[in-house]
This record gives sequence, C-alpha cells and structure tokens, in this order.
Amino acid sequence: PASWWWQDRDRLLSLAVEQAPAFVYHLPSVQSAIDELAAVTAVDRVLYAVKANAHPQILAQVERAGFGFECVSPGEVRHVKEQLPGLDPERILFTPNFAPRAEYVFGLEQGVRVTLDNLHPLIHWPELFAGRDIFLRLDPGQGRGHHKHVRTAGIQSKFGIPLFELDEAARLVEAAGARVVGLHAHSGSGIRTPDNWRQIAIILGEAAERFPDVEILDLGGGLGVVEKPGDQPLDTEAMDESLKSMASAFPGKQLWIEPGRYLVARAGVLLARVTQTKGKGEARYVGIETGMNSLIRPSLYGAWHEIVNLSRPNEPAGSPATVVGPICETGDVLGNERLLPECTEGDVLAIANAGAYGRVMSSNYNRRDPAAEIVIE
Ligand code: LLP
Repeated sequence: PASWWWQDRDRLLSLAVEQAPAFVYHLPSVQSAIDELAAVTAVDRVLYAVKANAHPQILAQVERAGFGFECVSPGEVRHVKEQLPGLDPERILFTPNFAPRAEYVFGLEQGVRVTLDNLHPLIHWPELFAGRDIFLRLDPGQGRGHHKHVRTAGIQSKFGIPLFELDEAARLVEAAGARVVGLHAHSGSGIRTPDNWRQIAIILGEAAERFPDVEILDLGGGLGVVEKPGDQPLDTEAMDESLKSMASAFPGKQLWIEPGRYLVARAGVLLARVTQTKGKGEARYVGIETGMNSLIRPSLYGAWHEIVNLSRPNEPAGSPATVVGPICETGDVLGNERLLPECTEGDVLAIANAGAYGRVMSSNYNRRDPAAEIVIE
C-alpha cells in the first residue's frame, strides 16, 4: 500500500517499542485532506466535526486552515474554546440533540451558533430564542451511510425536523421572535456518493422559502473514505461540480459542510503488539495488547480496518487469522480472517483508518486503559 504508515513503517516500529499500544496521527495527512476540501470551491465554509477526533494538535491545524468547528455537546464546545483561546465563537456551530434546556442556555451564552434539532425547544422554551439567530436541523428524508447505526435521516432516525412539520416550525419561530439564519441536514456517515450533498442542498434550498432570513445551507458531513481495497473513493471534484450545477437554485446562500471522518480517518493508525497466538481446530487467532477498548468500530458496526504486520513487510501471507484483543467478549475482534504474514509474539501490527472515531469512542472497559495518542508532525 502507498499509505503514509507503510512508507513510515520504520518510524512506527521504533515508536511501538516504547509507546504501543498507541494511536499515531500523521499531521501531513490531515493537511492533505484539508487541502482537498479547501479546493471544493462551491462550499463557502467547512466545519470540522470535532467528535471524530478532538486531539489538540488536530484542532489547531484545522483552525489554521480557517475552518470552523461543529460541536455536539457543551464538553466539545468547552474543549475547542480551551484549546483555541483566540477563536471567534461564531466559528463554532453547536448542534446538540435531545439536550436539556440548560445546554441551549449554555450555547447562547457562549456566543456560538446554535442548531435546534426538534420543535420541542420552540414549543416549550420559546423565551430562550427571542431575538436570536438560530439554525434548524431538518430531516432530509433519505438516510445514507456505512451502517444502520450511522444513518441519520428518515422516519426511523431520531434526528431532525421532518419536512411535513415545516409550516409548524415557521409558525413557532415567528411566535418565538427568532430568526432562522441557517438550515442544516446530515444524512449519515461514510457516504462516498458525490451527489449526496447536492440532493440535500435542493431539499434545504426549497425549505428555505419558508424562512426569509436563511443565509446558510449546511449540508452536513458524512464524507466517506476508502476502507476495503476495491472501494471507490469519494470524488470531491465531482462533489464540487454537482454543487456548482445547483448554484443558481440558491442565489445568495452560503453552502457549508461539516466533515469529521474525511479529515482525520486516514491520518491515524492504531499500533499494537502481538501478545499470543493460537490455533483452535481450523481457526487461527492473533492476540494483540488492546482491542475494543481502543477501537470499537469493528465490534459495533462490523467496520473493516486494514491490518498489516509492520514487523514482517516482505513476508507472504499465511492462512487467515482473526485478530483479537484482550477484552472479555467474543466480539472483541479487530479483523476477521485476515491474510497476514505468520505473526509472532512482539510483532507490531498497524490497524489503519483509525484516526476518526477511534480514541474518542474508546473506554476503559475491563479496566484496561485504551491506547494513548502520539502525533507525527
Ligand atoms: N455533522 C453531524 C450533525 C453529525 O452527526 C456527524 C456525525 C458529522 C457531522 C460528521 O460525520 P462524518 O463526516 O464524520 O461522517 N461513530 C461512527 C460515525 C458516527 C457519526 C456521527 N455523526 C463511525 O465510527 O463510523
């Protein structure tokens, strides 16, 4: 593979000696992804979805690129503000869902932009929004993404105001004395169809006719990356073209997107050493020093992460082996039946595409600390 982690494997091997298990983030790769999205000129602003990876050096790099930040909790808002003290709060969009009243009060006090995901806040706490500029999150109807858990539109998903409630939404906004300056939608995560965001833009553009103050159409994140060999990458130039083809349909409106994964997934690997191996009938297991406590995506979504044995770059694959961690669950699997060179205790494995939704979703289940984080500048 031509990935940075393959080219840089000697450095990774030496890092592993002292510091494995560890997530390693390669900032030049974050920069390549930033540059790629900065070239999507149909988009006026990119907000980084902080939930994907909140490492301070990554936040600083995103700030230098001039991007904004999408935060889903007061914890994320506080973290971004602490790490980036000079940041204009207008660059933060706070998008909680099913949050208590106090979190909206917090968001408004912080001077960040606030998104309402339901009508409940307008029905029950209209006084909070009097004279305020707000965003509304709409449900564009069609959910997409790599797993049903991450499809965030459609009647079976808890997110967004359905389009059949738009009239009521407009009435409540007016009664509250608020101004809707932005409409927002996010259809899911891990989408590699470039037309997805144009389809959302059309829906938001039409909905904007009910809200005279709308200046911004936030098309959400969800930009997917290649996971398995053979996956088609997302063509960001095609995404740009498809959005440009629509530009005349929303004159005077800014288009925003809010990617998380796309900026950081490929820049991270999880390094872990082999602890034990075993054969059990036909089955072969390779055990490593950390598992679902560091990277839960394979257990939770059946996600596929490429795994390589960095200690044996030139050896051919043996028979398929299942890579497992030390956690007391049968689901503690990092990769099923992988073709790896024969693995021996102490070999260093790299689990790729671990820069997004890795450390942020980790736990100390079984009271095993998750992998630490290291940055390569
Ligand atoms: N905007 C909103 C409103 C979101 O809910 C999300 C992600 C994003 C942006 C960023 O999505 P991205 O560009 O990263 O796909 N843990 C799952 C992904 C969950 C995403 C949740 N929302 C995974 O590991 O695949």
